[in-house]
Amino acid sequence: MKLLITGGNGFLGSRILSFFSNSNHCLAPSHQELDITNLKQCQNILYKWQPDIVIHTAAISDVSYCESHTELSNAINVNGSVNLAYICKELKIPMLFMSSDQVYSSNHTALPNNESDSCHPLTLYGRQKLEAEQRILDLLPDQGICLRLSWMYDHSASPFKTKSNFLTQLMNANEQSPVFFSDLEYRGITWVWEVIQNLSTAFSLPAGIYNFGSYATTTTYQLAAEMLEILKKKNNGMSILQKRTNVSPRSLSMSQDKLQVHHISFSENLTGLQSCLTHYSNNCMN
Ligand SMILES: NC(=O)c1ccc[n+]([C@@H]2O[C@H](COP(=O)([O-])OP(=O)(O)OC[C@H]3O[C@@H](n4cnc5c(N)ncnc54)[C@H](OP(=O)(O)O)[C@@H]3O)[C@@H](O)[C@H]2O)c1
Repeated sequence: MKLLITGGNGFLGSRILSFFSNSNHCLAPSHQELDITNLKQCQNILYKWQPDIVIHTAAISDVSYCESHTELSNAINVNGSVNLAYICKELKIPMLFMSSDQVYSSNHTALPNNESDSCHPLTLYGRQKLEAEQRILDLLPDQGICLRLSWMYDHSASPFKTKSNFLTQLMNANEQSPVFFSDLEYRGITWVWEVIQNLSTAFSLPAGIYNFGSYATTTTYQLAAEMLEILKKKNNGMSILQKRTNVSPRSLSMSQDKLQVHHISFSENLTGLQSCLTHYSNNCMN
């Protein structure tokens, strides 16, 4: 298969490129080579490469940067995504779009969100992802696949570029630099390699929107406390892990029901974290 991967230098894109390069022809132009806000440039590259599918991971993924750079983040997260969908429509090929659990946010209960729930995202980033999903599906009603990803992590021992994430924050935390998590929040937190391993099955999903990540059975604060124990970090008097205050209750946790119909499943948060730790401890011992 010929794949075109946007954002191939990013946290997710670089791993997707490495995983799929073994058995596919992949083109992953850098931001400099392909600016998704430039329709002409996108057309030149996609028409020349003639991919079988576009895996679109490029974005401004930093939620606060989006808020402070409204125009730029709209141009990339919404218009850039629409540019690619427009070309996929012309080429009659599917597009896999990386959306986010941040499209939810309005659910104040511990119940997991379903894809059919009405969404009222609280952040600009969440609104941008929601708008991009809608416009992609307008252009590609039969070939647009929007995956709502949750917060992803990898171990700092990974050979790939790894930005600050739930696991590295806990591993690096100490009494001088504690971590703060909310005990009013439920959200999925997913090992990035689980996402990637489920991607090839996602290529053949019917067009539509899918929750695509691990799910929460505890609050983020409780999960962090359990992880500190597993990491054997003593949280004496809650000095390493502290409760975030002044936050509203929220649930970004995602129901697995729709995905499971298509034989895709993700681990519960803690199980996924334990698999990641086991993987890296086995690899370090070899
Ligand atoms: N990471 C998460 O936990 C998470 C959770 C939910 C959803 N997502 C979504 O998953 C996708 C991948 O996330 P990530 O963590 O891998 O993001 P990332 O590490 O920030 O990577 C994003 C990539 O997009 C590229 N990019 C930015 N603007 C571009 C443009 N105008 N044209 C072409 N490329 C551009 C960046 O290139 P430069 O660095 O060179 O600018 C970078 O390589 C994103 O869509 C994100 O919104 C991520």
